[in-house]
Amino acid sequence: MLKNHFSRVGFILAAAGSAVGLGNIWKFPYITGEYGGGAFVLVYLLAIVFIGLTVFLAEAVIGQNAQADVATSFIKTSKSKNKNWKFAGFMIFTGLIILSFYSVVLGWILNYVFTSFGTLPTEASAAGQAFETLITKDIGSQIVYHTIIAGSVIFIVLKGIKAGIEKLNLILMPLLALILFGLLIYALTLDSFSTAVSFMFSPDWSKIDGNALLAALGQAFFTLSLGVGTILTYSASLPKHENFVKSSVMVAIVDTAIALIAGLIIFSFLFEAGAKSAAGPGLVFISLPVIFSGWGMLGQIIAVSFFVALVFAGITSAVSMIEPSLKFFIDRFNMTRKKATIMCGSIFYILGIIALLSMSSAYGGSLTFFGKNAFDWMDFITSSVMMPIAAIVTCIFLGYFVDKDMLKQKFVPNSSLAVFNAWYFLIKFLVPLAIIILFLNKLGII
Ligand code: PHE
Ligand code: NA
Repeated sequence: MLKNHFSRVGFILAAAGSAVGLGNIWKFPYITGEYGGGAFVLVYLLAIVFIGLTVFLAEAVIGQNAQADVATSFIKTSKSKNKNWKFAGFMIFTGLIILSFYSVVLGWILNYVFTSFGTLPTEASAAGQAFETLITKDIGSQIVYHTIIAGSVIFIVLKGIKAGIEKLNLILMPLLALILFGLLIYALTLDSFSTAVSFMFSPDWSKIDGNALLAALGQAFFTLSLGVGTILTYSASLPKHENFVKSSVMVAIVDTAIALIAGLIIFSFLFEAGAKSAAGPGLVFISLPVIFSGWGMLGQIIAVSFFVALVFAGITSAVSMIEPSLKFFIDRFNMTRKKATIMCGSIFYILGIIALLSMSSAYGGSLTFFGKNAFDWMDFITSSVMMPIAAIVTCIFLGYFVDKDMLKQKFVPNSSLAVFNAWYFLIKFLVPLAIIILFLNKLGII
C-alpha cells in the first residue's frame, strides 16, 4: 500500500465526495427551476459529457502522471519543462477563497439542522424573515457555525489524505446516499413525483437562451470541482497503475445522478405543496421549511435529514478545496502538514468572517466595494474569473504545450484510440472556445 495515496475506491469516493456538494443539492435544483426544467437539464447533461468530463480527464491525466502539487505537475508535464508553468498554480488560491464563503453557507445549513428540531415556519413570509435575520443580524451565530465547520475541515485535513480525507468519505458518502435514498422513496409516494419527472425531463425549448447555456456550462464546472486544482491534486494521489479514465467517468456519473435525484426530490416536495419551481437561491432555506412544517412529525424528520445530508455533502467538498493548497506548500516549500494547515486554515477562516460580516446590516456598508459586498466579490472572482481562466489554461496547456504522443500513451491502455482522439479534439479546440465565450460573457464583454 502506497503511503498517503488513495486506493482506487478511495479515490472514486473522495473525488465523488468533492464533486457532490451544495452544487448538486442546493444550486442545481434552483437553477433548473429558474431556467424552466427539461430543456435546461438536457443542455446541462451535454455540458457535463462534452465539456465537464473533458476537463476532468485533463486534470486527472496531469495529476496522475506528475504525482505532484499543481505547480510542479504543470512544469513536469510540459514539453519544455519551463519553470514558468508554476504560475498555473494560482488556481490553488481559488479553492481557498471558495472555501471561505462555502464554509459560511455550510454554517447556515448547520444552523438549520438545529433549528429544524424546533418549530418550523408555517408561512413563506416568516421563513423568509428567519433567513434574513440569520444573515443580516445574527453575526454571533454565523461566527459560531462557521467556526465549527472550519474547525472540522481543519481537523480532518490535518490527518492527511488516507487517514483524513479517504476515511471521512468512506463514512459520509454512504450515509449521504442512504439519506437521499430515503428522501427519494418518500418523494416517490407523493402524487407530485410524476409532475417532477415531467418538469425535469420534458424539454421546453422556449426557456433556453444564451444565459441558460452559460449557466449550464458554469454549473458543469462547479459541480465537477474543476478549475481549482482539486481533481488534479486528488489524482496525484491515485496510484499510477489505476485507470484514471474509468475512475473519472464513474465520478461524473455519480455527481450527475445525485444532482438529478436531488432535483426530483425537491421538485416533488415543491409541487406537492403547490409552490413555484423558480424560487431562486432561497429555495432550500425558505420554501422547503414551510413545506416540511405542513407534514407534522414526519416533516420534521425529513427537514433534519435533508439539512444533515447537505452538511455531509458540503463537508466532503470543503476538505477538497483546501487540499491543493496544502499539497502545494508541503511539496514545494517543505512545510509540515501541520504548518501548512494552520496557515491556509487561518486564511480561509478569516476571509469567511469578512464574507459573513459583509452581509450584515451593521458592517455591510463598509465591506461593500463597487456595489458588491465582500461575499459576492469572493463568489464572482472565483466562479467568473479564476475558475474559467484556470480551465482555459489547462486546455491550452494540454492541447499545445504537452507532447501528444505522451498523452496518447496514457489514454489508450485505459480506454481506446477513438476516446483519445475525441478527447484531444475537444481539449484543443471546442472546450477552450466554449470557455472563452463563457468567460467574456460573464465579464459582460459579449
Ligand atoms: N463540486 C462542489 C459542489 O458541487 C463544489 C466544489 C468546487 C468543490 C470546487 C471543490 C472544488 O458543491
Ligand atoms: Na457537484
